[in-house]
Amino acid sequence: MKVLFAASEAYPLIKTGGLGDVIYSLPRALNEAGADVRVILPAYRAVLEKAPDSKIIAWMDVTGVGRTHSVRILESNDTSLGVPLYLVDCPQLFGRPGNPYQHPDGYDWPDNAERFAVFSRAVATLTSSAIDIGWQPDVVHSHDWQTGLIPALLKHQQDAPKAVYTIHNLAYGGIFSHHDYISLGLPDLWWSTEGLEFYNNFSMLKAGVIYADQVTTVSPTYSKEILTPQFGYGFEGVLHSIEYKLSGILNGVDQEAWNPKSDPYLSSHYSHKWRTFKGKSDNKAALLTEMGLEATDERLNAPLFGFIGRMVEQKGIDLIAEVIPHLIENNNASFIILGSGQDAYEYAFTELARRYPEQVLLYLGYSEGLAHRIEAAADFFLMPSRFEPCGLNQLYSLRYGTPPIVHHTGGLADTVVDTSGETILNNSATGFVFNEPSAAALQYTIERAIACYENGDCWKQIVRTGMQQDFSWTQSAASYLALYQQE
Ligand code: ADP
Ligand code: GLC
Repeated sequence: MKVLFAASEAYPLIKTGGLGDVIYSLPRALNEAGADVRVILPAYRAVLEKAPDSKIIAWMDVTGVGRTHSVRILESNDTSLGVPLYLVDCPQLFGRPGNPYQHPDGYDWPDNAERFAVFSRAVATLTSSAIDIGWQPDVVHSHDWQTGLIPALLKHQQDAPKAVYTIHNLAYGGIFSHHDYISLGLPDLWWSTEGLEFYNNFSMLKAGVIYADQVTTVSPTYSKEILTPQFGYGFEGVLHSIEYKLSGILNGVDQEAWNPKSDPYLSSHYSHKWRTFKGKSDNKAALLTEMGLEATDERLNAPLFGFIGRMVEQKGIDLIAEVIPHLIENNNASFIILGSGQDAYEYAFTELARRYPEQVLLYLGYSEGLAHRIEAAADFFLMPSRFEPCGLNQLYSLRYGTPPIVHHTGGLADTVVDTSGETILNNSATGFVFNEPSAAALQYTIERAIACYENGDCWKQIVRTGMQQDFSWTQSAASYLALYQQE
């Protein structure tokens, strides 16, 4: 089974969120299960800097906006993905600073429609009979709006591979204007409510949903939630119409990249088999020191809550900001926050860190190493997301013995078991779950978590149970393979 993964990011070459993690881990898990998976990415400047050695395997002309791009397909010598890597090289579109979608100043590139239409056209052409690279995929698995046009393009290609499309986040629909549609030269035939048209604009995500042979999303609960107006972002109708080919497959944890027994970013290693929790508390002491505080007993004993993520409404980051003063003043809690995003949220946390310099430890920006150290050091992990297609950080938290506190939605609902009298008794509790995405519910739940922490035995039990959960990619890879093989 030969599968080409087309995506806009892949750790460790380029990553802004969980999509990058998935494109790193899932191909290797599939290859271990016997598939031949290769990855294709845009040749962003940052990727070419990290992976400079490659050979040109194809040239093609690709239609853009009012111009034709001469595009090179590179086969990279880079081995960091652990699977073969192809790059779509078009310096006019991808040879830029910043992340895959935005200028370094934080605004979307104005030509994103053209950038990802050209990427998608190049991928589709690469799999056609017009180009021979000595490897023809049976399946093209594309991910999120940036690659949504691929299934549509394949449907109109002869002898095309099967198209599988995964929605990682419906909130990003790849929505562009009718003017963009015309200037991209997309077929008139597709401009309809049954096609790409979306409330007088068009959506690249919708193209993937309509034309793929199979559509998946990244957790079973999210695959049901997106059929409702509350979570559907206007796509609920079209998703209903394709429900027969829609399924939810849970993401996993990369067992090597996220392993507290061997994580190179940590100063102390640990596992659930160790009788003491010293490994975890050593990491807490090291993190406090790293953040400029003395690791006194008082600080080590106070519950430390971690957050890592994009500072956007989805993540419920405003709810965290709202409850922090009360929890510091009444419960002796402290917080370590790592993230970046919307100015208003960054500002709110900057203010909190100024007001409580010893209890609110803040790093605005992106740091892979700090993310690992927070997972190891914190006593609890906060994820009050309003919606969460899957979420990876709660899975990393479970593995690192940092019980997650989550809103009951999407992948969070599928992976975390609330602590109650019953779940403590039957030893299934792994974290804390609340049903309403409100500051009051979050605060109440954090207070429940603190009571468990102060009890000691309760916290140790849920830490151990959480660390023993198996969220490896093996199971998910088997589900994807079954889907690829489906007629
Ligand atoms: P999403 O994809 O919605 O952002 P996930 O929980 O699926 O959420 O994945 C987020 C991934 O990005 C995790 O690997 C997390 O550690 C990482 N991440 C997010 N923000 C940062 C940051 N500021 N620094 C380091 N890693 C981050
Ligand atoms: C998206 C979602 C997140 C998911 C990730 C990887 O960014 O927001 O919930 O874990 O994709 O699938």
